[in-house]
Amino acid sequence: MDRNLALDLVRVTEAAALSAATHMGRGDKILADQAGVDGMRRMFDNIDIDGVVVIGEGEMDEAPMLYIGEQLGRRGPGAPQVDIAVDPVEGTTSVAKGLPNAIAVVAMAPRGCLLNAPDMYMDKIAVGPKAAGKVSLDAPVHENLKATAEALNKSITDLTVTILDRPRHEKLIQECRDAGARIKLFSDGDVAAALATCFDYTGVDILLGIGGAPEGVIAAAGIKCLGGQFEGRLVPANDEERARCQKMGVSYEKILKMEDLAKGEEVYFVATGISDGELLRGVRYIGNNVAKTHSVMMRSKTGTIRFIEAIHRLNKKPSYAY
Ligand code: FBP
Repeated sequence: MDRNLALDLVRVTEAAALSAATHMGRGDKILADQAGVDGMRRMFDNIDIDGVVVIGEGEMDEAPMLYIGEQLGRRGPGAPQVDIAVDPVEGTTSVAKGLPNAIAVVAMAPRGCLLNAPDMYMDKIAVGPKAAGKVSLDAPVHENLKATAEALNKSITDLTVTILDRPRHEKLIQECRDAGARIKLFSDGDVAAALATCFDYTGVDILLGIGGAPEGVIAAAGIKCLGGQFEGRLVPANDEERARCQKMGVSYEKILKMEDLAKGEEVYFVATGISDGELLRGVRYIGNNVAKTHSVMMRSKTGTIRFIEAIHRLNKKPSYAY
């Protein structure tokens, strides 16, 4: 795959972020999501790929655009056949309320390399490169915290665990407190939170807890590029969801490791901040019809991480205005 495709993907997430960001704090997450989807979908038409959506906005009958199975890209002769995982607005509630951590995000890999995960919950663990290989979803919480602290050469009392703030995590939070760790709860957006474990400047060392499975695949793709570790296990809520796993051929019993979620060495991950977060700054409007975006672009093959600050003249890009 041409490495410059990553830059094309930045245009895709920038378009989604610019479209969604106009809805920040306006209290309407559906409108914010729709704006992000529209912005992202348009941009895909300009990319020289033969793509198929494996993680998207839902099944074909649920979503008019970016539905699972939708074909994307110019799809000309010789175009690389790729899987695409998209979340035009990861953290719709955060955008609607003006809270942190919302990003527009895309992962891409050769056909068959990204898991088509069912839309249900997934138990997750994520750590950065220094602690990679030292933790497991099968290990007790205190052991994972101890192993991460040792790998980072700090005591557990200096370790920061990030957890989605949900009632279902009450026991997990208590276990982290009992082990003596610091905790940073967040309201939404566990893709950005998982990736934050791979960057020292975020101050976050490990992510634990249950979030969406599609978001788990996207986070695994990003963490693969960063050399960290991500594991997930599906958490079907009922027989219907268990049957769905079986139909899709995905186990809910075994731990899904990096190679199950984002296979191979040609994984791309690109994200643009919509609202401010630890990883990325949100969209800024700096007057005179100019907006600034902050994105990260990565490729697992080389492990290069590029942060891109872009200045957009919105009067020359009327399609971004919503
Ligand atoms: P949406 O953008 O789809 O609202 O997802 C936000 C999010 O916080 C994800 O990051 C996370 O994986 C999931 O929701 C958690 O689900 P729930 O809100 O049901 O706990």
